[in-house]
Amino acid sequence: MGTSFPKSKTLYIFSFLALFIASFSSHSQAFANETLAQCLIDHSQPSHPITSSIYTPTNSSFSFVLQSYIRNLRFNTSSTPKPALILTALHESHVQAAIICARKLSVEMKIRSGGHDYEGISYVSISLPFFILDMLNFRSVDVDIEAETAWVQAGATLGEVYYGIAATSKVHGFPAGVCPTVGVGGHFSGGGV
Ligand SMILES: Cc1cc2nc3c(=O)[nH]c(=O)nc-3n(C[C@H](O)[C@H](O)[C@H](O)COP(=O)(O)OP(=O)(O)OC[C@H]3O[C@@H](n4cnc5c(N)ncnc54)[C@H](O)[C@@H]3O)c2cc1C
Ligand SMILES: *[C@@H]1O[C@H](CO)[C@@H](O)[C@H](O)[C@H]1NC(C)=O
Ligand SMILES: *[C@@H]1O[C@H](CO)[C@@H](O)[C@H](O)[C@H]1NC(C)=O
Ligand SMILES: *[C@@H]1O[C@H](CO)[C@@H](O)[C@H](O)[C@H]1NC(C)=O
Repeated sequence: MGTSFPKSKTLYIFSFLALFIASFSSHSQAFANETLAQCLIDHSQPSHPITSSIYTPTNSSFSFVLQSYIRNLRFNTSSTPKPALILTALHESHVQAAIICARKLSVEMKIRSGGHDYEGISYVSISLPFFILDMLNFRSVDVDIEAETAWVQAGATLGEVYYGIAATSKVHGFPAGVCPTVGVGGHFSGGGV
């Protein structure tokens, strides 16, 4: 509001966004978590194993992984619809597998970065089954101060972006949100206040 950022001192930030929309066609009632998990395994590369990124409801860490990025506690209840699976992708090929399997099995894919969507759109769906592609492991912030640019992954938080820039330069910055835990993925793709 009235504050202007000199163009030459503004960093241009590009984020790695998985801007894909999963198919919403009607799903088979016969769908099972195992089918989705197996599909992900079948469509991933052996050089980048996907199994350690798959959390099904029977896994003891499932609730922790799900709840860690729920920012509106209205959706942190036992009656909130739960995903059939959470994929905490570690490699780009896991994102590709998620998209392929969402389409193939006609299961809705929710993408979550910082989880700040106050309507829970990144981790709740009334269309069952659905699964979450969680971007939390994609959080690198690479600042090129010579070029005055930064490459930021979708799972980084705004606070991590500010920190990464401040650690590199005393005079550069990037104007975004006040709240440091908002995710880059949801903010840069159209969120924000
Ligand atoms: C407590 C709180 C404080 C906030 N403070 C501020 C603030 O200070 N300043 C401000 O500008 N805004 C603020 N916001 C709003 C915030 O910027 C938006 O809600 C933003 O969309 C959140 O992004 P996220 O990645 O954290 O959310 P998420 O819930 O992860 O995602 C939001 C939406 O984007 C989609 N999405 C996320 N990542 C990707 C991706 N990689 N590819 C494709 N789609 C994706 C999700 O599916 C969802 O529809 C705040 C919100 C909350 C709840
Ligand atoms: C839960 O899932 C993770 C990721 O797939 C795996 O590493 C871990 O061993 C699982 N834990 C249990 C108790 O099944
Ligand atoms: C969400 O609910 C669980 C209990 O189901 C609780 O342990 C956790 O602390 C809650 N999260 C927050 C942020 O309150
Ligand atoms: C499959 O997902 C449902 C919720 O969608 C859950 O109730 C069930 O326990 C899951 N089964 C396994 C084996 O994870």
